Amino acid sequence: MNLAIMASGRGSNAAAILDAIASHELDARPVALITNRENVGALDVASSRNVPGHAIPRRAFPSRTAQQRRMLEVLQGSGADFVALAGFDAILRPFIVAAYPNRILNIHPSLLPAFAGGMAPVPQTEALRAGVRISGCTVHVVTEELDAGPIVAQAAVPVLPNDTVDSLSDRILEQEHRLYPLALRWFVDGSARVENGHVYIDSEECQSLWPHPAP
Ligand code: GAR
Repeated sequence: MNLAIMASGRGSNAAAILDAIASHELDARPVALITNRENVGALDVASSRNVPGHAIPRRAFPSRTAQQRRMLEVLQGSGADFVALAGFDAILRPFIVAAYPNRILNIHPSLLPAFAGGMAPVPQTEALRAGVRISGCTVHVVTEELDAGPIVAQAAVPVLPNDTVDSLSDRILEQEHRLYPLALRWFVDGSARVENGHVYIDSEECQSLWPHPAP
């Protein structure tokens, strides 16, 4: 797998993925890290790990579409055959989704389909406001519909009585860093397949976590 990562901020999920690759837990080649902003932590994460970083900010292009056309050029030019969105705060244009069918994953800080649609810390804030007792994170396949693609993996965390947005976000983030490399591994080793809008995983590791029947 030639993996590209797209991020907009701090880049802690990007770091978790790249570190899983460096420690051979994830057998992938990181070919590019693309941001839609300049001067963000994710670019430092890339340079500190010798991964080519590409800042493609909106202001350098006449439109969002032109900006994303450039992103697609960089993705294809890097040889990426799989993309991980890791805190990427723009909605991908359909032409990027179509260029990587079932080959783009995203991580979202809630148990989808609950609290879809916002960027961190909005989902965590909404979870606290709703008073849910359990929240977590979801890795899903990216489709044209925002945060609604087939779910690959989820991890749950408790919402505690004294939680703040920060404390809940930290608890979820710890699980994100564990879950995202694991989910990517199922695509690398071919155990994940997307069929009829669902993801099926033929991996004993997964079966022991989330037993589910074959389709
Ligand atoms: C993460 O919590 C991720 O789940 C969230 O942004 C944060 C990025 O943190 N993504 C979304 O909200 C997507 N809608 P990071 O830059 O440290 O990886």
